[in-house]
Amino acid sequence: MIYLKNKHQIEKIRQSGRVAAQSLDMISQHLRPGITTGEINKLIHDFLVKNEATPATLGYKGRGNAPPYPASCCVSINDEVVHGIPGPRKIQEGDLVKIDVTAILDGYFGDTARTFMIGSVSPEAAKLCRSTEEAMYLAIRTVAEGSRLGNIGYAIQSHVEARGLSVVKAFVGHGVGLQFHEDPNINHYGQKGTGMRLKAGMVFTIEPMINSGGPDVAILNDGWTAVTVDGSLSAQFEHSIAVTPDGYDILTLSELAPEPLPF
Ligand code: MF3
Ligand code: CO
Ligand code: CO
Repeated sequence: MIYLKNKHQIEKIRQSGRVAAQSLDMISQHLRPGITTGEINKLIHDFLVKNEATPATLGYKGRGNAPPYPASCCVSINDEVVHGIPGPRKIQEGDLVKIDVTAILDGYFGDTARTFMIGSVSPEAAKLCRSTEEAMYLAIRTVAEGSRLGNIGYAIQSHVEARGLSVVKAFVGHGVGLQFHEDPNINHYGQKGTGMRLKAGMVFTIEPMINSGGPDVAILNDGWTAVTVDGSLSAQFEHSIAVTPDGYDILTLSELAPEPLPF
C-alpha cells in the first residue's frame, strides 16, 4: 500500500532528509586515506544524535536470517555495492567510498547516499561515479504527477548502458517517509511509458547502484555486505524525492550537494 504524504508530512521528511544530507556534507570534510570506516560511522552517528535524529539503520532487521544491521550508516568500498558494515578497514587513495545514511527525525525518515572519490581515482572509477550521479538526476527529472515509474528506470539504464556500465537489479529504490522502506519498489531499469502512474504526494528514493562490469551481486558471510560477483567497481547515489503536481521535490539536498544544473 502506498502512503500519499500531505504538505506537512513532506516538510517533516525534508527536515529529516536535510540532516541525513548534512551528515554526508560533514563526513566529506573528514575523508582521507587512513580514516577507518568505523571512525566514519562514529562521526555520522554523533552528528545525527547532535541534530536530534536517530540512525534508522542501527539495529535494523532485514529479511531472512541476517543479524540486525549493527551501524549508523552503510560504508561500502570499491567492489562493495551496498550495506558494507563499518569496522577497522582504512580507506585508501583511489578508493570509491559509498556512504548511505537514513535519519529519523520526529518519526519521519530521510534516506540519502553518495559516492566519494578518495584523492585521485582511476579514469574508470571517475567515469563510473560521474555517470551514476548523472543517471540519478536524469531519472529524478522524469518525475512528475502522471509520469510513469518505468520512465525512471529507463532514464538510468539507457544512460549507463550507453557508457558500457551495468545496472544492479537485486536492490531497488523504495517508498520512504513514514517508514524506512514503504511501497512501491523503484526499479533502476525499465521501459519508457510502462508501469504505475505517479501521483502527487508519493515520496520515494531513487538510488541507482551501477557497476563497471556485470550487474550480478553476492552477499558476504556477514549477512549484509553486497559485492560485485566479478570484482568490478560499483557506485551509488541516492535521494528521497516527493512527486508534485508539476514535477519533483528533492528532500535530501544540502549546502555542499545542491541539485546540479541539467546535463
Ligand atoms: N539506506 C539503505 C537504503 O537505501 C538501507 C540500508 S539497510 C541496512 O535503503 F540495514 F543495511 F542499513
Ligand atoms: Co534507500
Ligand atoms: Co539509503
